[in-house]
Amino acid sequence: PSILLLNGPNLGILGRREPEIYGTATLTDIQRAVEKEVSARGWGVVAVQDDSEGALVGAVHDNWDTVGAIVNPGALMMAGWSLRDALAAYPRPWVEVHLSNVWARERFRHESVLAPLALGLIAGLGAHGYELAARALMARVGRP
Ligand code: DQA
Repeated sequence: PSILLLNGPNLGILGRREPEIYGTATLTDIQRAVEKEVSARGWGVVAVQDDSEGALVGAVHDNWDTVGAIVNPGALMMAGWSLRDALAAYPRPWVEVHLSNVWARERFRHESVLAPLALGLIAGLGAHGYELAARALMARVGRP
């Protein structure tokens, strides 16, 4: 079994993207940390990052056989309606993650069109949030 780790626009440049906001961990560091976390359960990770919404929608369609997903939609949080519909059809639980505390930032970041469909949401805990999301999925999905 594997989990889907989905990262949206501008997250491929983590490490050098506004590090005072998003931290210095790269997306590869984050993927490795999630892999390590779920390997305890014998799970793998299907990691997809893309800057375009269509590719993310396709990745959700192509990975219905995963046991759950961790999704950082980036700015698609605010208006990613087609990603929302793809996640509505995704048959497994998923957790929304934001590195920064979006509610401590500009007002336009305060609304998520995706969050009502998520199992839960973690924001503001940096890269650690992804590990916590992985743990939440392991607790939720139970043993394979
Ligand atoms: C983000 C927060 C979003 O508002 C922003 O557009 C991002 C990153 C985060 O992880 O904190 O791209 O999702």
